[in-house]
Amino acid sequence: MKREQWGSRAGFILAAVGSAIGLGNIWRFPYMAYENGGGAFFIPYLFAMLTAGIPFMIMEFGMGQKYKGSAPRVFAKLNQKYEWLGWFQISIVTIIGIYYVAVIGWAISYFSMSFTQSWGTDTNAFFFSDYLQLGSDNSPSKLGSIQWHIAIPITIAWAVTFAAIFTGIKGGIERATKIMMPLLFLMVIALIARMVFLPGALDGLNYLFQPDFSKIADLKVWSAAYGQIFFTLSVGFAIMLAYSSYLPDDSDINNNAFMTVLINCGFSIVAGILIFSILGYMAHEQAKPLTEVVTSGVGLAFVTIPAAINLLPAPYILGPIFFFALVIAGLSSHLSIIEASTSAFMDKLNWSRRKAASVVCSVGFIASMAFATNGGLLLLDLVDYFINNIALLSSCIIELIIMGWLVKLTVIHKHVNKLSEFTVGQWFEVCIRYISPAFLIVILGTNIKNTLTDGYGGYAQSDLLILGWGVIAAMLVIAIVINKTSSNLELIKEV
Ligand code: ALA
Repeated sequence: MKREQWGSRAGFILAAVGSAIGLGNIWRFPYMAYENGGGAFFIPYLFAMLTAGIPFMIMEFGMGQKYKGSAPRVFAKLNQKYEWLGWFQISIVTIIGIYYVAVIGWAISYFSMSFTQSWGTDTNAFFFSDYLQLGSDNSPSKLGSIQWHIAIPITIAWAVTFAAIFTGIKGGIERATKIMMPLLFLMVIALIARMVFLPGALDGLNYLFQPDFSKIADLKVWSAAYGQIFFTLSVGFAIMLAYSSYLPDDSDINNNAFMTVLINCGFSIVAGILIFSILGYMAHEQAKPLTEVVTSGVGLAFVTIPAAINLLPAPYILGPIFFFALVIAGLSSHLSIIEASTSAFMDKLNWSRRKAASVVCSVGFIASMAFATNGGLLLLDLVDYFINNIALLSSCIIELIIMGWLVKLTVIHKHVNKLSEFTVGQWFEVCIRYISPAFLIVILGTNIKNTLTDGYGGYAQSDLLILGWGVIAAMLVIAIVINKTSSNLELIKEV
């Protein structure tokens, strides 16, 4: 069966940018920057972008395009014994897809409530008690029951993803992102154009960009920056390999990779400006210091922003635009997350796209109902922490070691340069072989040590053991078992 292809270069870039720009940019980046030294966070962030983000993107675009496969197939083509890393990445992306859709579901609910701001004035109590129905006896392992008002928007999000994946690369994903991304950019421009002129907005921006240099020496800040770069760029967990496997033979790689990274990171900064203008305005309206109005984590988008929307002029217009932008950004990433798994099953089991999309979306849909329960937020928080801070970083390190040390990286380096308008020099290999793995190993080592000694989020050790470490161990075992029983003998060692 001939592999599908993107219809045009612009179509591919929009899809790749659509994958990269997501909840990570609007929901995660602003509070990460805020918590990790404001303006000072940009130094590790830009360093991680240059030393890890750009080289990784070039490498994955090159690998996907050259070996024409989803992650397991790409690694198996490098050497059959590395196929397990592809399956490990597929398990990461699938788990992310299962909880990511829950946040999109919340955003859909908030979109519908934003027309009348039916979240009321106490947005904190509303989000946790009225909307999530989170009880004091809930924990990641005591989830309670399914909350249908959360399950329904999650179902809507799945329906959009399913429709696009089922239809195919050109007619489904490319067409969807061609509508979604220009719409997203327009909405964000419209919001910024209004927000930065509100009283207090500039104080918010000063806060975001004012560097707290004392934080730069803190390893946690570097860990946050590197973790954020991989998550936001959708690299290291099977997505960009799958997307670039649909590139035609003569595609430019370096230019596409630079564009994707720069548009995504530029968008993050724009989203930061948007959020901090809103916060600055809110602090001004309530005559409070900005630090008192900001909520960290999930709360920023679903507690602080609704409270700020209450105070805005024309909240019934600006509120829906904000939440619709969040929904669109999330959906265009969710498509790519689920496509990464779907394409792996198509490659491995020779399933048709329709069959693979139906199976992956049905199983994912059922599993995501765990996040529509009373304790769903707690499970999401725990799983997200382990997946991002342990599993994803491990996957990236192993990929760097395989590519930098165990196979010939020059093959990919030459391949991307041969196809591209401009070439990348030796720095590409230096980043992949030395700089990125060195940083990541220190960061991962520290994350593992801290999690083992301090736990995470005050959750019970048994929850961390089963739902955190246990899930990662199970993912590894499954990946290795699939690799061992693999019968892909037709795959020839190419590097
Ligand atoms: N790259 C996607 C995001 O940032 C997954 O949300």
